[in-house]
Amino acid sequence: MGGMAAGRISPRRSGDDQAPRLVWPGRRRGSRRPEPVATSLAAGVSPDGRTRGLIHGDARDAIRFVAAAGGFPALVYLDPPFGTGTTRWASAFHARGGASFADPRATDGDYLSLLHETFWLLAREMPPAGNLIVHLDSTAAPAARLLLDETFGPAAFRNEIVWHYASGGRARRTLSRKHDLLLWYSRARRPRFFPEAVARPRHRCPVCGGERRAWNHLRRAVDDTGRAVRTVRSAGRLYVYPDDGLASPGDVWSDISTLQQKDPERTGYATQKPERLLARVVAAFSAPGDTVGDFFCGSGTTLAAAERLGRGFVGGDLNPAAVEIAAARLAALAPQGAAPARWRLDQPAELPRRRAADLPPARRGQS
Ligand SMILES: C[S@@+](CC[C@H](N)C(=O)[O-])C[C@H]1O[C@@H](n2cnc3c(N)ncnc32)[C@H](O)[C@@H]1O
Repeated sequence: MGGMAAGRISPRRSGDDQAPRLVWPGRRRGSRRPEPVATSLAAGVSPDGRTRGLIHGDARDAIRFVAAAGGFPALVYLDPPFGTGTTRWASAFHARGGASFADPRATDGDYLSLLHETFWLLAREMPPAGNLIVHLDSTAAPAARLLLDETFGPAAFRNEIVWHYASGGRARRTLSRKHDLLLWYSRARRPRFFPEAVARPRHRCPVCGGERRAWNHLRRAVDDTGRAVRTVRSAGRLYVYPDDGLASPGDVWSDISTLQQKDPERTGYATQKPERLLARVVAAFSAPGDTVGDFFCGSGTTLAAAERLGRGFVGGDLNPAAVEIAAARLAALAPQGAAPARWRLDQPAELPRRRAADLPPARRGQS
């Protein structure tokens, strides 16, 4: 990642679209990278009919590779570098060669181009009822929101999910930063969304799992059958919510902790996310039998969650160590004879001609 240039927001000058737009030096410069595309993903279909594939390559190349095979995943989760301008080191307990990676600054022109081009390609390839979840923190999420609004349209924004965790150190000069953001976009009026799959009994504390008596202002009562309920009257109607009824989570998730140093789930890969978090994403935004995509897959957490929940998966990462770690993790989970297929997009055989249509509109013809 080069091109250290500051991003800034400028209003669009032409047309009737007055939405703000992020611009940065280099945004209009064409990409110099080779542009691999299309062989078939068929080799990644396991005997049980599920797709299991791992791609070593840039996220943009991986998206075009998958798109060329047809049938693009209906759920894509992305956990790109957060734009912190540091190297993300592997856990000291699990240090492994290559398990760290460089994270550019969120204002770096190449970083913004990576997000922009990735989102633009996904907006082109994803089925309309599909879901895109982009996981960042407060560093790059504002830029990502603007780029997602631009590429998917502001109406496609569904939720900003706050993943709040209590663990880790305390800051001295600011309030401690204890949350990540998951941006959910879908263009369909009725996206593929399964809140019942992640619902929990209302009377259980989402953090400790214990029973709780008070969690909102509603009146507690007991109905004719002896069941504890909460009631509220609004606009002349009486609403009754049984305590043991199920409620889907809101947009603040504080019941999933980060991985502890000695957590058995740890692979040693820097910034590995807990599988519980990805299990919730996969269950809420896809159905069994769907294929889930993750083109910054790191240690393969999303893919592992997809495997356990009966989904297919296709993952990709630029770091060969990530692909190795993910492959080992998934081979241990997959049924006999269903280890993921692997592709390397830096192989000459995979390099086709660049297509102008693979660049966002403002960049076409300017390489
Ligand atoms: C935050 S980590 C993902 C961690 C992952 N969710 C996990 O649980 O292990 C971001 C990943 O993006 C990868 N990456 C960085 N630039 C990339 C690019 N241009 N294309 C694909 N992957 C990239 C890094 O190698 C790193 O593995």
